[in-house]
Amino acid sequence: MHDTDSVSNPSPTRPFAEIVQTRLSRRSVIVGGITAAALAAAIGPASVAGASDDDDDDRDDDRRDDGRPRRGRIDFTSIPLQNGPTPTIAPEYAMSVILPWRELLDGSGASFDYAGFTAEQQEQSIGIGHDGMWYFGDGRRGVLCLNHEFGSTQHVTGVAAPTTLEQVRLMQAAHGVSVVEIERSRRNGWQIRSSRKNRRITVNTPVEFAGPAAASALLQTAAGNAPAGTLNNCANGYTPWGTYLTCEENFNGYFGAAVPFTASPAQRRYGFNAGGFGYAWHLFDPRFDLANADYTNEENRFGWVVEIDPDRPNVAPVKRTALGRTKHEGATVVEGKGRRAVVYLGDDERFEYIYKFVSSGNWRSMRARGMSPLDEGTLYVARFHEDGTGEWLELSTANPLLAGWTTDQILVNTRGAADVLGATPMDRPEWIAIGRDEQVYCTLTNNTQRGSAGRPGPDAANPLAPNPWGHIVRWVDSEQHTGTTFAWDIFAIAQDTVDAGGQMFGSPDGLWADGEGRVFVQTDGAQPGANNDQMLVASEVTGEFRRLFTGVAGCEVTGVAVTPDRRTMFVNLQHPGDGDPNRTNFPAEFTGAAGPVPRDATVVITRLDGGVIGS
Ligand code: FEO
Ligand code: CA
Ligand code: CA
Repeated sequence: MHDTDSVSNPSPTRPFAEIVQTRLSRRSVIVGGITAAALAAAIGPASVAGASDDDDDDRDDDRRDDGRPRRGRIDFTSIPLQNGPTPTIAPEYAMSVILPWRELLDGSGASFDYAGFTAEQQEQSIGIGHDGMWYFGDGRRGVLCLNHEFGSTQHVTGVAAPTTLEQVRLMQAAHGVSVVEIERSRRNGWQIRSSRKNRRITVNTPVEFAGPAAASALLQTAAGNAPAGTLNNCANGYTPWGTYLTCEENFNGYFGAAVPFTASPAQRRYGFNAGGFGYAWHLFDPRFDLANADYTNEENRFGWVVEIDPDRPNVAPVKRTALGRTKHEGATVVEGKGRRAVVYLGDDERFEYIYKFVSSGNWRSMRARGMSPLDEGTLYVARFHEDGTGEWLELSTANPLLAGWTTDQILVNTRGAADVLGATPMDRPEWIAIGRDEQVYCTLTNNTQRGSAGRPGPDAANPLAPNPWGHIVRWVDSEQHTGTTFAWDIFAIAQDTVDAGGQMFGSPDGLWADGEGRVFVQTDGAQPGANNDQMLVASEVTGEFRRLFTGVAGCEVTGVAVTPDRRTMFVNLQHPGDGDPNRTNFPAEFTGAAGPVPRDATVVITRLDGGVIGS
């Protein structure tokens, strides 16, 4: 998502003393060996990426003799940054484009025309704003769940602001999630297949609530309307039991008020105001009118992690209240000690927090008893200490600091509860990925306001003030993801991380680790030299970065999914050209303003030799 310039956490207070001297020098943190050594000192060498692993990796043999994954070698040729209308990829790789905005879900391969595009057509076709996604299948056929975060009203409807309900309905249908079965043929590559599983989920699709706050009065409206829809679906997660998680990020921007309106403290904490982001849905759809008494609390129905079953098209998406309500970037699931389901969650806004949910029991036995592992457990928020340790602070009524709060208040106003506990305000937590040996990585995309008047200054985990290019933090939990303490370090500071060609990156956002030592970093925002957004591959062990892919002018590179053999990777180009055909006609060949308006789409990446992506 574009930088909205927003800050909803007004507190200038900081949980620990201002740190003048950052714990690590900027230069040292880019040397992977040093970060690994620091983690080893804090938590013991057994938990740290195998700096001592043998180096006989072979991309056709990804396992060592003892069955553990080999250290992931990165052999491809790093490409330079560029600012043109066409994506580029490393010479050892190939790419193709699928699932452009407006392609029909019916498997015909046809797309609806841009001219005269209607809400009804959008409900039957791929949405806009491609973002997080995951692929559930094998190397040949499977279901792809694909988020549609947002689009501009001008680009989607042809007008700057809606003047009719039909235009609002078109915008609403452009948002949400696509679920499509895709298959690969030798002749045509990957394509949508006609399937009963194919569906669009939009802001008007019936949804259900589950978990501790599901029946809360805070989630009921006077109008008695049933809960519907999901919105601003940013990053994602996927569960060991085969479901997809889609995460609601900047939901506040779709609400507004046409009459004088004063936001409550809880509404202000989530950035609600009369104007929103200018979508103006509230002028035509009363659900989004903050001043309409019939729909009081409607805004509390957004800001959740939503579970979707890719194989059961008749099952409604379920909002999992136990995971709290924030501007959820993503929801990264990992199996923790005792086979508990652990979910790491970033709340992407300046000075917001990192969260963790731990299920109450073994996820398999919970499911065998008919329970969702995402409905019962403990939610925590992170505090980073300056000495490289950290704590997970419990967000529940069992925490004496939350005396007077009810469970549903904590889960609906999660940001407010986390403020009380003294969580560490971070530089915009975006995606979270699980690397080797229980290492957890989180992109902190940037924070131009750190250190500005009335705002928190630098701290050890957010050492730059301001922080225009962002950084990546990582940690290892004390108890296989289920503990209440962790050891952390900084993996990379973007402005000090240069590739072999001396080029850097900015605004790290999308993130995925292959478990073999490679971390895929996607960018969203300012790049050095006003170049295009990109995807890099970093080594967990050496800290080296290589640039695998660059997007087109004006686009964000976001979303990553792989086939189980990791020989095919899917990534997304969001808002190519910011919708302007003068900048790119992607995915069409560039011919300028006379060419088609650019379309958000998914890029399929393979190695020419059929090897593992990233090698
Ligand atoms: Fe939707 Fe924080 O990116
Ligand atoms: Ca972003
Ligand atoms: Ca993002």
